[in-house]
Amino acid sequence: MHNLLDMVAGYINLPKGLIVNNPATGKKITTVKDYTDTETHQHIEEAEKAFKLWSNKTAKDRASILRKWYQLVLDHTEELAQIITAECGKPLFEARGEVAYAASFIEWFAEEGKRLYGDVIPSHAAGKRILVLKQPIGVVVAITPWNFPLAMITRKVAPALAAGCTVLVKPAEATPLSALALEVLGKKAGLPDHVLKVITTTEPARIGSIFTSHPIIRKITFTGSTAVGKLLMQQSASTVKKVSMELGGNAPFIVFNDADIDAAVAGAMVSKYRNAGQTCVCANRFFIHEDVHSEFIEKFSKAINALKVGNGADDGVEIGPVINEVAMQKIDALVKGAKTSGAKVVVGGQKHHAGENYYTPTLITDVTMDMAITNSEIFGPVATVIKFRDEDEVIRMANDTPYGLAAYFYSRDLGRVWRVAEALEYGIIGINEGIISTEVAPFGGIKQSGIGREGSKYGIEDYTEIKYCLMGGLNS
Ligand code: SIN
Repeated sequence: MHNLLDMVAGYINLPKGLIVNNPATGKKITTVKDYTDTETHQHIEEAEKAFKLWSNKTAKDRASILRKWYQLVLDHTEELAQIITAECGKPLFEARGEVAYAASFIEWFAEEGKRLYGDVIPSHAAGKRILVLKQPIGVVVAITPWNFPLAMITRKVAPALAAGCTVLVKPAEATPLSALALEVLGKKAGLPDHVLKVITTTEPARIGSIFTSHPIIRKITFTGSTAVGKLLMQQSASTVKKVSMELGGNAPFIVFNDADIDAAVAGAMVSKYRNAGQTCVCANRFFIHEDVHSEFIEKFSKAINALKVGNGADDGVEIGPVINEVAMQKIDALVKGAKTSGAKVVVGGQKHHAGENYYTPTLITDVTMDMAITNSEIFGPVATVIKFRDEDEVIRMANDTPYGLAAYFYSRDLGRVWRVAEALEYGIIGINEGIISTEVAPFGGIKQSGIGREGSKYGIEDYTEIKYCLMGGLNS
């Protein structure tokens, strides 16, 4: 058995600083550094110096370090998974999956960095040539969430480093240990000093405002709530930084009457209950056609009732705790509000006896479009169902939200598949699929769910600037 904190030994057990708790037990794991303003400024300046060196390396040299980092992450799957489970609560099997997912971004972008091609544009005049270069944007700040404490870092940091940028990471206060472990492995892989630096803090707003106002920082990339994303965008405006925002969602999950119901239930389970419902792409509103409503509810409730709730470190557990007390209160209030407004609880509907931060996997029917639960990102293990009659009606309801991250639907009618996929106002569409995440596809939202794309060939563009060079005097 590994000692889960061996990897980050140099960073922990400080007499004071940021306290990291285990959401499964409420107990303290350790204390990490709380960076001061002065130290943060120093690290920004060091990152700028390191940028000169790192951006001048060849893409191939950077790729070879990233490749080693990728391998080290995989080699340490078990320790990293234990850290993830301890600080964010997800079951170990999901944490192991997250390590593989995190590593996949490093591998992918190590390769993409070598293909960051520019252009030669046919000239508008004799004796002149037009060249387009793609250059690294500079020092990047990545502000990352607690629900995927490893993968949401690599999805940002790997493309930034591959492009030649240097990066400061501000991980979520709840989950700094995964970030620190990643930094340790990066150094071991050969990342030069100050190319990647994790800044931990008890005061994210204070450190955030240093980052957003600092002229050296050229880009802010953020995953988290829409409210915080808007604030970061406002703050970044004063220095006109490039921003990428992966924000909240309110994903519809539509089951048409021609769907394969067993496949839809399997998709619903993974989409809704992954990480106890705490992902930005979790199905948030289930729209079920009236002809298949009874069958779907019967099969879905059976599967939900079979879920094992408990400490994610224990064998066989499928639903761990939610991240903290505030999250619990929000979920509980939404469910109580829905009940008061006439919704019917089919499964669960209350806290779970496993402990303070556990909510019973829940299914609620007879939900309406005006309820608070329909219009909030639940971020917990609660599925809400609305019955519908026709395609136009369900598309209208699915799009009736300021969010536009992920949407899912199940149908076997090819014409309908194209119509609905094109009509849904979302950045990611799962068609007969409940899990859409992969490093090879562009992840991101429209409307108030964000700006920019992560992963895939598009994910590296956000870390570059386009420079156009007009070369003249070629006729003389
Ligand atoms: C997120 O919740 O922000 C990310 C989920 C994913 O990558 O699948």
